[in-house]
Amino acid sequence: MIVNADLRSAEVIRRVRGIDYPSVAEIGVYEGDMSRRLLYRLNLHLLMVDPWGTIESSDDDKYRAKSDEDWEAVMNKALSGVSWAADRVRVFHGTSKDAAETFDEKFDLVFLDGDHGYDAVSSDIEYWWPKIAEGGWLGGHDYRTDMDIGVIEAVNDWADENIIQIELGENYTWWARK
Ligand SMILES: C[S@@+](CC[C@H](N)C(=O)[O-])C[C@H]1O[C@@H](n2cnc3c(N)ncnc32)[C@H](O)[C@@H]1O
Repeated sequence: MIVNADLRSAEVIRRVRGIDYPSVAEIGVYEGDMSRRLLYRLNLHLLMVDPWGTIESSDDDKYRAKSDEDWEAVMNKALSGVSWAADRVRVFHGTSKDAAETFDEKFDLVFLDGDHGYDAVSSDIEYWWPKIAEGGWLGGHDYRTDMDIGVIEAVNDWADENIIQIELGENYTWWARK
């Protein structure tokens, strides 16, 4: 059975598979369903970024209601799922903003799947676009109208202001090439 994380990871992989040991960052990891698949399917390096804790600005009740113990279990599931690939993984336990301030480097692809509110997505794009290598990709999840979130508006406003073309992929993914 193909699940949504398969579709998302296939979208990432087809964009970086021609690159020798591509560098990918996933912003918002949760239990690592996508991280695990990426590492299984391609010899890439993955930066996994998640606070694994309640964030006041988080748009989604699913990610607010958890206790500290629940978050620890979620994080442990993400980390144990990729432990076999530890030499190809860096884990940043913190927010997208803190990670962007910490990692002064270029990535072949960054996938935004953290806070889905308008302001958060707009900020994430501002943080991570400068870190995309020439020819690389910035993308994200949940470009969709059936949820009360701000992804479409944030992505479209940024693309319009900067004259950037947005490509849409499977499982509500969006993509911009640098
Ligand atoms: C939809 S889940 C990620 C799913 C994952 N990308 C996958 O495909 O399996 C959203 C995650 O974003 C995280 N998150 C929320 N706000 C964040 C922020 N400001 N920076 C980084 N991650 C954030 C939440 O803790 C949650 O684990």
